[in-house]
Amino acid sequence: MTSENHSNRENKSAYPNPQAESRPSLPSWAGMAIVFLTAAVIVLLGLLATSIMERRWESQRPALVLKPIDQWESDNAKWGENYPREYESYLKGEITDTETKFGGAYPRDYLDADPYQVILFAGYGFGKDYLQGRSHFYAVEDINKTKRIKPDFYAATCWTCKSPDVPRLMNTMGVKEFYASNWHDLKNEITHPIGCQDCHEPQTMNLRISRPALKEAFAAMGKDIEKATHQEMRSLVCAQCHVEYYFETNEKTSLKNYLTFPWGKGTTVEQMIEYYDETNFSDFLHPISKTPIVKAQHPDYEMFMTGVHAYRDVSCSDCHMPYKTEGGLKFTDHHVQSPLLNISNSCAICHRWSEEEVRSRVETIQTKNFEAKMKVEKALVEAHFDVAAAAEAGATDAELAEPRKLLRHAQFRWDYVSANNGMGFHSPQESMRVLADSVNQAQQARLMIARLLATRSVKALPQYPDVSTREKAWNVAKGYVDGNGVKILK
Ligand code: HEC
Ligand code: HEC
Ligand code: HEC
Ligand code: HEC
Repeated sequence: MTSENHSNRENKSAYPNPQAESRPSLPSWAGMAIVFLTAAVIVLLGLLATSIMERRWESQRPALVLKPIDQWESDNAKWGENYPREYESYLKGEITDTETKFGGAYPRDYLDADPYQVILFAGYGFGKDYLQGRSHFYAVEDINKTKRIKPDFYAATCWTCKSPDVPRLMNTMGVKEFYASNWHDLKNEITHPIGCQDCHEPQTMNLRISRPALKEAFAAMGKDIEKATHQEMRSLVCAQCHVEYYFETNEKTSLKNYLTFPWGKGTTVEQMIEYYDETNFSDFLHPISKTPIVKAQHPDYEMFMTGVHAYRDVSCSDCHMPYKTEGGLKFTDHHVQSPLLNISNSCAICHRWSEEEVRSRVETIQTKNFEAKMKVEKALVEAHFDVAAAAEAGATDAELAEPRKLLRHAQFRWDYVSANNGMGFHSPQESMRVLADSVNQAQQARLMIARLLATRSVKALPQYPDVSTREKAWNVAKGYVDGNGVKILK
């Protein structure tokens, strides 16, 4: 109701009105007062409704005086003084005994559990030390502990996804210079684990992209990340780190270990391996099959984007950072963890299934994915040994080029699924599709080797070494690394 309506009514009352005469008329100011009172009540009701319905975080700290936070403040505790609920929930990341069937905050040793991976990563750091990730709270501690860091020089780029000290240092050192430095030289500067500044702009607390690599990757695809919607940002803050990446070293552009996402052609597994083929990139030369291998990192965002939840506009935060209520106040749970440890606040907001049903649906998807993945691993391991057998029988590099290329592609596809967090849950169909392509390529490579051996009249069948435990697999891998690998054609 507006004052314009009110004045119209007053104008109308200037016309003769028979009823008006029979009623005692109100004083002239009363109409005005009623209008204002009604408006005030409506506004108050509206405010009440928004504060109940919307999870407005401002309302939770009416008396709190916010201390200014520096643009590059990396100490999570300082932010925590302003936002104690978010900070306290973040600190719950300290818990590390929440094992779920395939995940949870628990340092599962992948190589003990699955010795095939010792062979698949033979001669590379991941064949030596490969633990399941824990919470953000441990990011700095865990990188300091991993045996993958080489003692003299290691790319400082590896710090990029571990700490809010990184944007601060990039700001003072320069981005290019940061990446080109030695990991060990920055050790004293980088002490705070992943935290507030990685995802938030301190003045407004808006979500922000603090890492250049994601912005650059969007630009390379011709997209502008500044145009992302709020709901997209609730996944993009995660995509700063939970993605596939490599370090670009290029003398022409004088880049050294520059963090780059291989998204120039797009974010599907096919587009990424095609990108790697064109740029001739590989992480290591496999010592058994002499195949140049690309290690997939953790393409969580890319995989997630192919699934039904992304299609339906659900974000990473909806499941991993759901709302939480404490003392009647709603806020975002900053204990980023497996949603299976928090089903009632995450999945159950949208799905009216019992907790047991949710868990069993997730585990059914994961178990199928796991079983398929193990079959692919067996085929890949045998393919590496088959290529070694062909080399033993005198096959030339030219003859082995095609099987090696198939093996390179097959292993990247397998790893794209294997290194992905969530054991296939984020996009079950895509995971299975990629595993199917992987096993097909691995078997094609093996078939080519079988034909090659037949044309050379090799009668002996390949005898694969026993790699059923981590130790046995390690010894086999080490033999090849040292140049005296076991003979396959006995
Ligand atoms: C629809 C809900 C949902 C969405 C959306 C979602 N996830 Fe997950 N995520 C899960 C489930 C379920 C698991 C499996 C947890 C387990 O096995 O304990 C998981 C596992 C993970 C894990 C491993 C955690 C662990 O304890 O094993 C990471 C890391 C992860 N997701 C990151 C992401 C990222 C990044 C995004 C967005 C790109 C995302 N997730 C989107 C449900 C979701
Ligand atoms: C600055 C980089 C970075 C950002 C941003 C980031 N993560 Fe992580 N995340 C990591 C790293 C590194 C680890 C592993 C830490 C470890 O094991 O020490 C991790 C671990 C996790 C885990 C495993 C926790 C557990 O208990 O098993 C989940 C789940 C996860 N992240 C989800 C997310 C989601 C969801 C987002 C976005 C809201 C996100 N992450 C944003 C780097 C990041
Ligand atoms: C991995 C990314 C990430 C990190 C790290 C992070 N936040 Fe958040 N934060 C979010 C997301 C996502 C939201 C939901 C924002 C939205 O939807 O507008 C959020 C919301 C908030 C809000 C708004 C109120 C609420 O609870 O919804 C505050 C305040 C906040 N975070 C404080 C913090 C503090 C303090 C820290 C450090 C201890 C922190 N955040 C670390 C991602 C993060
Ligand atoms: C913000 C809402 C939202 C949240 C939170 C959410 N989902 Fe969903 N989920 C959806 C939507 C929407 C669909 C698609 C339904 C459709 O299109 O028919 C879906 C589909 C699914 C499907 C069926 C997929 C298929 O194609 O068969 C499963 C299983 C599922 N969700 C499990 C989960 C689990 C487990 C969690 C918690 C880790 C979760 N969801 C969290 C909204 C959500």
